Amino acid sequence: MLKLAGLSKSFGARRALDDVSLTFQPGEFVGIIGRSGAGKSTLLRCINRLHEPTAGKVFFNDTDVTALKGAALRQWRADCAMIFQQFNLSGRLDVLTNVLVGRLQKRSTLSSLFMLFSEDERAAAVAILARFDLADAALQRAETLSGGQQQRVAIARALMQEPKLILADEPIASLDPQNSEAVMDALAGVNAREGITVLCNLHDLDVAEQYCRRIVGMERGRIVYDGPPTGLDHATRQRIYGQDLKAT
Ligand SMILES: Nc1ncnc2c1ncn2[C@@H]1O[C@H](COP(=O)(O)OP(=O)(O)OP(=O)(O)O)[C@@H](O)[C@H]1O
Ligand SMILES: [Mg+2]
Repeated sequence: MLKLAGLSKSFGARRALDDVSLTFQPGEFVGIIGRSGAGKSTLLRCINRLHEPTAGKVFFNDTDVTALKGAALRQWRADCAMIFQQFNLSGRLDVLTNVLVGRLQKRSTLSSLFMLFSEDERAAAVAILARFDLADAALQRAETLSGGQQQRVAIARALMQEPKLILADEPIASLDPQNSEAVMDALAGVNAREGITVLCNLHDLDVAEQYCRRIVGMERGRIVYDGPPTGLDHATRQRIYGQDLKAT
């Protein structure tokens, strides 16, 4: 269980997160929605400690994540796989190697340095790629793939990392509808099959409604909605998206 207790984050005078308290059960698929600047990315970054919260705590099961240091902090970051809008693959490396890189978090420095992977690890990476319909592309350079394919490679790499959480920050913002669907299906598949909790920042409300059983709506760093998609009435949508509602 992931628990955020009174989490706040300020950048100078700007409160990007304002007293956020939320609890996520194992295996949830949560869509986090809100206008640009609402604090969605800051929320994910405070969870994996890319940002230090200004106040409040993050707990995972009985661990106070906000207090972790050194090796324990590195382990927590490895437990939280991030998926970014821009895929963040190593474009010149082949797809298989990009997926295997997910394992580096768990390796000694020396074997990481030389990217030495066992046959078992290679077989696992190929199996994950096959699952996302990418086995044929395994030996291609990552930069030769379409955006949707690259994002699925990023999800395969995340899975190879054996994370406890997947934090996806607008994973489909650069993709057309068809590729978006393939990527969201891949995330939904990982959530359903491995039972990994997925927190997914999304701009598109329709996509959030389609894939997420729970939606968290943010406005100016605060939580203004937390519930099923069916509970998002017009007034709440208006509050979350304001003038932008027509555009969503
Ligand atoms: N590193 C930073 N330094 C200063 N201000 C920041 C920083 N990161 C975020 N902010 C500010 O915090 C607020 C929340 O930003 P955040 O990126 O979390 O919003 P978001 O909901 O992810 O927006 P978007 O949909 O555009 O990605 C914004 O006002 C932003 O300008
Ligand atoms: Mg963002």
